[in-house]
Amino acid sequence: MLSTRVLHLLLCLVSIPAFVLVEASGGYSPYISSDIHCDKNAHTSFISNTYKYYAPLHKFTNLTKSFFDESWYDGTIVSNTTGIDNVPGATRAGGYGEYHFNETLTMYTSHPDALAYAYHGKGFTASGAGVNFGSSVKLYSYVEAFRFESICGGQATLIDARAYACSDNPIAAYDSWTVLHDLTFTALAGRVKAALFTGDCLG
Ligand SMILES: *[C@@H]1O[C@H](CO)[C@@H](O)[C@H](O)[C@H]1NC(C)=O
Ligand SMILES: *[C@@H]1O[C@H](CO)[C@@H](O)[C@H](O)[C@H]1NC(C)=O
Ligand SMILES: *[C@@H]1O[C@H](CO)[C@@H](O)[C@H](O)[C@H]1NC(C)=O
Repeated sequence: MLSTRVLHLLLCLVSIPAFVLVEASGGYSPYISSDIHCDKNAHTSFISNTYKYYAPLHKFTNLTKSFFDESWYDGTIVSNTTGIDNVPGATRAGGYGEYHFNETLTMYTSHPDALAYAYHGKGFTASGAGVNFGSSVKLYSYVEAFRFESICGGQATLIDARAYACSDNPIAAYDSWTVLHDLTFTALAGRVKAALFTGDCLG
């Protein structure tokens, strides 16, 4: 009797991760904190940038919705992936200039009026000419989070871009990431021919 009950308990425990995975692939993911605690030899930077454009959400998310395609993000090239695209736990690795990265998707939520996802990266060490991070910045680990949200009854889009970084140079990390966000979303808005939001929803 006891062994049957133990077996039943084990089966219940084993079924929990499967349930979470089914929910995740259906568009709902469990909440995973994007906050990070840096090792004591590293400094933490919190970078938060917001952009608003006159163009419907789908014009942006068409280009940004795939975790395995990061070409929209300043030409970042993904060369290796594991797991299933847009399902938390998937990884992508590749190059950005002379940097190498390997990132794990931690959260992905998609609705008709919003797309949000976050991922964790480790060991992004600079030697890099030709990228926006100065060669003086060594990133030990980081989290990036994006939210694309429909505003003005579907006419415009709010983009919230955040990075949480552990580095040896917090000011350079902050400045570099802000430049990267600015040029990325300016280029993306250009590609979808979106005008800059002036503050009012158009009649
Ligand atoms: C999505 O982007 C592709 C190119 O990446 C383009 O061919 C297609 O027309 C776009 N679809 C929409 C709905 O914007
Ligand atoms: C990553 O992809 C490249 C080419 O796409 C391949 O040569 C290399 O072996 C891959 N690396 C790993 C660790 O899978
Ligand atoms: C990236 O990290 C994941 C998980 O640690 C690993 O399975 C994968 O092989 C790594 N990719 C590369 C190209 O090293």
